[in-house]
Amino acid sequence: MQPRRFTLSGPLRGRIRVPGDKSISHRAIMLSALAVGESRIQGLLEGEDVLATAAAMRAMGAQVERTGEGEWRVDGVGVGSLLQSQVALEMGNSGTSTRLLMGLIASHPITATFVGDASLSKRPMGRVIEPLSLMGASFEASPGAKGIQTLPLMLRGALPAVPIRYTLPVASAQVKSAVLLAGLNTPGITTVVEPVPTRDHSERMLRGFGAELDVEIEADGTRVISVRGEAELKPQNVTVPGDPSSAAFFMVAGLIVPGSEIVIENVGLNPTRAGLVSVLRDMGGDIEETNAREVGGEPVADLVVRHSSLRGIEVDPALAPSMIDEFPVLFVAAALAEGRTVTRGLDELRVKESDRLAAMATALGAAGARVEERADGLVVEGSGGEPLRGTDHAIATHLDHRIAMAMAVAGIASHAGVEIDDTRPISTSFPTFEPMLDGLAQGRGAP
Ligand code: S3P
Repeated sequence: MQPRRFTLSGPLRGRIRVPGDKSISHRAIMLSALAVGESRIQGLLEGEDVLATAAAMRAMGAQVERTGEGEWRVDGVGVGSLLQSQVALEMGNSGTSTRLLMGLIASHPITATFVGDASLSKRPMGRVIEPLSLMGASFEASPGAKGIQTLPLMLRGALPAVPIRYTLPVASAQVKSAVLLAGLNTPGITTVVEPVPTRDHSERMLRGFGAELDVEIEADGTRVISVRGEAELKPQNVTVPGDPSSAAFFMVAGLIVPGSEIVIENVGLNPTRAGLVSVLRDMGGDIEETNAREVGGEPVADLVVRHSSLRGIEVDPALAPSMIDEFPVLFVAAALAEGRTVTRGLDELRVKESDRLAAMATALGAAGARVEERADGLVVEGSGGEPLRGTDHAIATHLDHRIAMAMAVAGIASHAGVEIDDTRPISTSFPTFEPMLDGLAQGRGAP
């Protein structure tokens, strides 16, 4: 455990550049490892989660090498040629690595054992086991609470796998991606029907690597995504844009600390990820986009964030998938806003790295915020800009990086500060978070 108290900050000033997008980094390593020949990746997130994906692809035969800061070279084995790993795949805290790799392996004639930390070992894997079993893979999972299927688990891939048409029962980009990745080595066409759109990085990148992928959008917005199997992927140069989910902590920090003005460079603004920006603007947040451009096939801009008086709002549940990882820090913004913020439709938050509704209700409550926990969301009564009281004991982060970072942001807007029980999980997604926050508080950013 590595506790730390985050204390009331003066104005945040300066420019920062957040690290590469976690979702895109995982996919860049996986697809490069499946292409035939050498791919180069720039701006890769070097957090523990992505390093777990890199190690797994190495264990299955790809050459994956770091050549500089954020710069990686990957020599791929080709679709269909993944090798059997001689060791268990250590997934650490990473649900994305686990679920996407289960998809990849499901259509290869190999077996794999997946293990993870205490947080990952409680998370539901049935949501990928179900479609991948329909494709022919078989699984032995561990029994979790309430009968769910969890890690450690053993997976035996099928060759040939069977193409399916699968309608997602939950809005999950991980489940969608697992099925599409399994489809890469499956004869025929594998189709995922997505009633509620989720992040589309897999679709964009599969096309970028030369897979035949089709997306049809029906009148009601349902997306029908088909990939042709026995694909041949061509190596690429990939540039990973900055992670909007990491930028989120600084957006909120800049908005709630009086006198702040910061620039966050190179933030990915793919519409399937940018929900928080529009919600914060609806709350009165001053967030300006400059230098809009495209990086690695994704829309990107620099964000200028200025301190603002926020007001509480009702957050449209339809926006949830486009900001699913940003709710912990949105709750912090709500705690400092004028009036009441109501969120609902957030059942999925209960099965993230922690139960994020319970964890944030308890942590913000301990810091003096007025929070009501409901089955599918939180209702937060804001302080009207007055700093929170702060905590008299360390709050529990439950091995969840986003709870730790959200409560660090609450700490810099609190009289007594907020103590966090363990800052180590922050390195799963954002190893430079603390020096960046400290740098801005001292009036110097860290581009
Ligand atoms: C991710 C999808 C989301 C998100 C996770 C990363 C991805 O999970 O919470 O941090 O890279 O596909 P779900 O798809 O399960 O909602």
